[in-house]
Amino acid sequence: MRVVICENYAEMSRLAAEEIAAEMKKKKNFVLGLATGSTPVGTYGNLIEMNKQGEIDFTDVKTFNLDEYCGLYPNHDQSFNYFMYMNLFNYINIKNENVHVPFGFATDYDAWCKGYEAAIAEAGGLDLQLLGMGSNGHIGFNEPAEEFAEITHTVELTESTIKDNSRFFAKIEDVPTSAVTMGIGTIMRAKKIVMVVNGANKAKAVKEMINGPVTPSMPASALQNHPDVTVFVEKEAAKEIM
Ligand code: GLP
Repeated sequence: MRVVICENYAEMSRLAAEEIAAEMKKKKNFVLGLATGSTPVGTYGNLIEMNKQGEIDFTDVKTFNLDEYCGLYPNHDQSFNYFMYMNLFNYINIKNENVHVPFGFATDYDAWCKGYEAAIAEAGGLDLQLLGMGSNGHIGFNEPAEEFAEITHTVELTESTIKDNSRFFAKIEDVPTSAVTMGIGTIMRAKKIVMVVNGANKAKAVKEMINGPVTPSMPASALQNHPDVTVFVEKEAAKEIM
């Protein structure tokens, strides 16, 4: 695991975007895994700018998002689908048909999740997966659990995640209590992983992810077993590893 400690949020965002752009330039038909949450917003801002400047091209890029709340339609203003259009897709030259965000209103989730895995495989697998991390160490919506989930699946969200994410909703009761997410296995099959983390509230999780045991009770610790992970950590989030 390569850990890059960054001076501030802006530096973290710029370095992560440069790392993604460098990979995108190496390959046509790039398959990019994307994340939501407040942390990657700056990374997306940099990618938008690079696309505007003609440095990177999304024409043949396919994207797959990590997760989505169950029970929110794609056009709901708190859905991750809506977030992705507002923070990235509306501003880059990506084709709509190449965008994939998990669907939070499936009637048969098992079948839907298998289809999502098949679509990723059919695209050639994820070349790069961008990740943020929850304060309890969750990646995607893989919450602390008894085992690492292998494929895309549905999950019940923990109280701490519901509380963390309630800042985006009018009231805590509006936060969905379940979600559909790529599994830890799906994430680990990505050829390269880039994580962005900022804020003092993530410092303990950063330390446990990097130095703690590999355990499903700290989902991000699985990344210790991936051969190509770069974590861009802003100074405050890195204070327990410095
Ligand atoms: C959500 C997403 C995660 C994200 C996390 C952290 O729960 N499912 O993918 O990493 O939030 O969000 P933030 O970056 O806002 O702290």
